[in-house]
Amino acid sequence: MSNFRKGWQTMAKPVIIALDYADGAAAQALLTQFSGEDDLWIKVGMELFYREGPQFITALRSRGYHVFLDLKLYDIPHTVHQAMQQIGRLGAELTTVTGLGGADMISAAKEGLLEGAAEAGTTAPKLLAITQLTSMDEQAMHVTMQNDDFSLLNSVVHLAQLAATSGADGVISSALEVGKIHDATPAGFLTITPGIRLAEDARDDQSRVVTPRRAAELGSDGIVVGRSITQAKDPVAAYHAISQQFEGSTVY
Ligand code: C5P
Repeated sequence: MSNFRKGWQTMAKPVIIALDYADGAAAQALLTQFSGEDDLWIKVGMELFYREGPQFITALRSRGYHVFLDLKLYDIPHTVHQAMQQIGRLGAELTTVTGLGGADMISAAKEGLLEGAAEAGTTAPKLLAITQLTSMDEQAMHVTMQNDDFSLLNSVVHLAQLAATSGADGVISSALEVGKIHDATPAGFLTITPGIRLAEDARDDQSRVVTPRRAAELGSDGIVVGRSITQAKDPVAAYHAISQQFEGSTVY
């Protein structure tokens, strides 16, 4: 993986594999199958991070993987600031907060990341704000918000604008919302989209789902794919099929 330090700007749009496993050994078993791949992007979420801890992230980075640490922080600004100082030290390239935490929380997150990275002598991860989970649909939002007029799309676009003006580098949303988000935010603001399924795959608990090809057409800057790869009979073949559908353009 000689060229993993090329940096985000010059890389092809990534297909990020969600390593949603219970422990490092299970994650490693998948990664071993990908040993021939250059520039592999992986996402470590709560399940694996709570088990394996920060040293798992630094170990992955030192082995050349691009790491998206997806912990979706949501707390008062001071707590998020302090937590992000710790995350900023780890060398991950992307990380997340929950956009609903508001402008002050997002700014505090960004500040904490920059401070932690500077102290550790590394580069801060790009900060992505979760807009609305891709497992939610409009009906579920009506129930959650006790409001039948609640518009999921308006909420996603509003949270993306708030994130952009609060210092985030991008958002997580469904690919279905990417066009409106790009219209409403500055050029270069990233849209990373989970909720990806090949046409033949099960939706599982996801609601706002699209294929990799459709995500590319809609303008996603990167896709996050878990079960369509990790539970495929041949994960490497599934990754290649998905990458082929999504490929075509570079980020900038
Ligand atoms: O298995 P699947 O492809 O559905 O996994 C999607 C991954 O993306 C999971 O790790 C999930 O935590 C994450 N995610 C999501 N929706 C969001 C943010 C993150 O599905 N809004």
